[in-house]
Amino acid sequence: MPTKRMEEAINDQINFEIFSANIYLSMVSYFESQGLPGFANWMRAQYKEEIFHAMKMFDYVLEAGGRATLTAIDAPPQDWDSPLAAFENALAHEKIVTGRINNLMEVAQEEKDHACQIFLQWFVSEQMEEEATVSDIVNKLKLVSDGGALFMLDRDLATRVFTEPAA
Ligand SMILES: [Fe+2]
Ligand SMILES: [Fe+2]
Repeated sequence: MPTKRMEEAINDQINFEIFSANIYLSMVSYFESQGLPGFANWMRAQYKEEIFHAMKMFDYVLEAGGRATLTAIDAPPQDWDSPLAAFENALAHEKIVTGRINNLMEVAQEEKDHACQIFLQWFVSEQMEEEATVSDIVNKLKLVSDGGALFMLDRDLATRVFTEPAA
């Protein structure tokens, strides 16, 4: 059973993962409004991934004999100045998440919760991957100078499919 402090820290992150999901879902709407269905598809997969993260933590708390608690979620932004601005926001957000996962790991170490440390290792690697992927798209968007290049990138991002990792 997680300590009260550990349980509260994971619950806080469950709600933050749902907040992340809402930001990316809001970007789905933004990209559709910009006539960029490939970007919207990519963000739809990102939304599903964040819900998967929230559920993974939710199920962990229950399995560990704790209580998962849901709270009010802040409203996500609704508009961005450009596709680049949206992806720069996504990158800045993922960096915040990485910091939060690292803090969670420190709480697990301080609470001597070994099971939770093992559980959180997956998220530590996942955040490295997320930052790299989003950063790659930010760099590509910086190279985009005309509508043609944006169209090609949109076609690229249209191919992303979210599949739940095997347990
Ligand atoms: Fe996440
Ligand atoms: Fe993420």
